[in-house]
Amino acid sequence: MKSNSSPIILNTVSDLRAFLTLARGNGKTVGFVPTMGNLHQGHLDLVNKASDMTDIVVVSIFVNPMQFGPHEDFDAYPRTLNADCEALNNHPCDAVFAPTVREVYPKGVNTEIDLPSLSTILCGHHRPGHFKGVATVVTKLLNIVQPDVAVFGNKDYQQLQVIQTMVADLLIPVTIVGADTTREPNGLAMSSRNAYLSAEEKETAAMLYATLKRIGDALRSDSRVSTTLKQEKERLTAAGFVLDYLEIRDAQDLSKSYVEADSAVILVAAKLGRARLIDNLVIELKR
Ligand code: PAF
Repeated sequence: MKSNSSPIILNTVSDLRAFLTLARGNGKTVGFVPTMGNLHQGHLDLVNKASDMTDIVVVSIFVNPMQFGPHEDFDAYPRTLNADCEALNNHPCDAVFAPTVREVYPKGVNTEIDLPSLSTILCGHHRPGHFKGVATVVTKLLNIVQPDVAVFGNKDYQQLQVIQTMVADLLIPVTIVGADTTREPNGLAMSSRNAYLSAEEKETAAMLYATLKRIGDALRSDSRVSTTLKQEKERLTAAGFVLDYLEIRDAQDLSKSYVEADSAVILVAAKLGRARLIDNLVIELKR
C-alpha cells in the first residue's frame, strides 16, 4: 500500500470497514482526509500530510447536506468524483470512501452534535446550523473510519476549532492535525468554491489575503488596529465584496479578547459574485 497507484473506491460503510479491518490486521496505521470532493491542490496537500504520518490514507468524498442552509449551494456544489479519483491516482491515497446520503444518514437526522459556544459565532452566525452539520458528519465519518490521524485544512479555522473541541469533549481516539492553507500564486486560498469565480473575480479575491497581511502588520506593530480594520473593510466593500465579517480573535478559543492572548487570528468571510470566501491569518503576539 501507499504506492501512488489508483485508490480502491468504496461506497458502503461495510466495504470500507472490511478494507480497514484487513489493513489494521496487517499492522497498518490509518490516516483520514474528509472532503466534499472537487479536489484541488489544497486537498492533495492534506493527503500528502496524512501519508507522512500514517501507513495508509482514506479520503472521503461526501457532499454533506446537513451542513448547507436552505438557501445555500448544496445542489450547485461541484460533484466531480471521476476527476477526483483521477487526481488521487498520483497521490498516496489507498481508498476513496464515496457514500450516498442514505449510507451516512440511514435513518435521517436524529442525533445532532452541537457546540453552541463555537458554532453560533463568526461563520456560525451567518450560516445557522452549519457547524452542527459539520460536527455531526465528522463524528459519523470518524466513527466509520476510526483513523489514527485525521487531517483538516487550517483555511477552515473555525471548523478546525469545532472539530478539535468536539474530539476532546467526546474523547474520540484520534489525533486531529491542521494543515497549512495552499494558495494560488496571487495569494488566493484554494477552495472548491473558487470555481464560482470569473477570472477577473479571482484576481479581486486575492485582496482578501493581502488585507489579512496588512492587518497582521498593524497588529504586530501595535499601531491603531481598529482604524486599520475600518479602512480595510471599506476597501473590500469598494472592490465589490459583501462582507460577512472581518475580525480579530484570540487564536486559541476565538473569543473577542485577543489583546492579552499569545496569538491572534484575523478572520474574514465575504461574498464575491456567487462565491462565499473565507480566509484567516494567525499572528503570534507574545511580546
Ligand atoms: O471541510 C470540508 O470539506 C467539510 O466541511 C468536511 C470537513 C468534509 C465535512 O463535510
